[in-house]
Amino acid sequence: MRDTLTASPAQTKVPLRHLTGPRALDGALIEHLLERAAGFELVPESADGRLQGRLLATVFYEPSTRTRFSFEAAMHRLGGRVLSAENAARASSAAKGESIEDAIHVISGYADGIVLRHPEVGAADRAAQAAQVPIISAGDGPGHHPTQALLDLYTIRKELGRLDHLRVGLAGDLRNGRTARSLALLLSRFSGNQLVLISPPGLRMNEDITGSLEGVRVEETGDFAGSIPSLDVLYQTRIQAERFESPEEYEGYRGVYVLTAEVMRRLPEHAIVMHPLPRVGEIDPLVDADPRAAYFRQARNGLWVRMAVLDWALAR
Ligand code: NCD
Repeated sequence: MRDTLTASPAQTKVPLRHLTGPRALDGALIEHLLERAAGFELVPESADGRLQGRLLATVFYEPSTRTRFSFEAAMHRLGGRVLSAENAARASSAAKGESIEDAIHVISGYADGIVLRHPEVGAADRAAQAAQVPIISAGDGPGHHPTQALLDLYTIRKELGRLDHLRVGLAGDLRNGRTARSLALLLSRFSGNQLVLISPPGLRMNEDITGSLEGVRVEETGDFAGSIPSLDVLYQTRIQAERFESPEEYEGYRGVYVLTAEVMRRLPEHAIVMHPLPRVGEIDPLVDADPRAAYFRQARNGLWVRMAVLDWALAR
């Protein structure tokens, strides 16, 4: 009796399925998750009851609309339940100075999996060290956003039919934008892709990423309009105001690349425009009616992809 009471999940040593960054995603796992997501989209009832009796905690220390809602919707659609801290920075004991390790250690005792968004690079990896349940990163500061990159791949494949031999322009704040950083890494795994990194000189993608983009051709430029005519995918991003040292520094970059209906005339007919959203002026709403504007379809795809991720991490 005593033994049963004192046995903790940590002692069972089952390998946990963490997803803390794009490096955890090998080719086989990407394929599995994209296929599973497509299955859920095609036959939504196939999700019924898959995670019945499982409990997910969504712990967000930074604002979110799409990521948290789509994870929570995904968990509900799989038949599971959700505990949510949507304002953990202020409303959890982090406000009293508790470490992320201690918080995750404790929440691990209440939930079967944790989706974590945190402002510090590496927070998801640290959380995984402290956790006794799977940790899924929903973004770690200007680090990575692995499930966004997965839904971006899903969208590209659905819209254009392939993930290789594409010319993809990533535009905007590539220094701080975690979605572009994660997507660049994942696209470099597929053959024949070309990446055009479009940013002002001060917002270039860091070498921790550009130094590991083996196998793809990479071009760096500040010329937004001039890059557009040769692209298959334009991946537009927001200047990440919250990562700048001062409002003045941000103001210097605000509005640097704005996609208007006028600029859209330069984009090939077969190409698509993506954006992880939220947008704050870098895509004119007049562009929304253009069939090449894929960003709202992209946001919707997050549901299927996050269902696949939760199913992989939590199904027994
Ligand atoms: C992004 C993020 O949080 O990194 N949003 C999202 O998850 N779709 C992009 C952004 O905030 O600019």
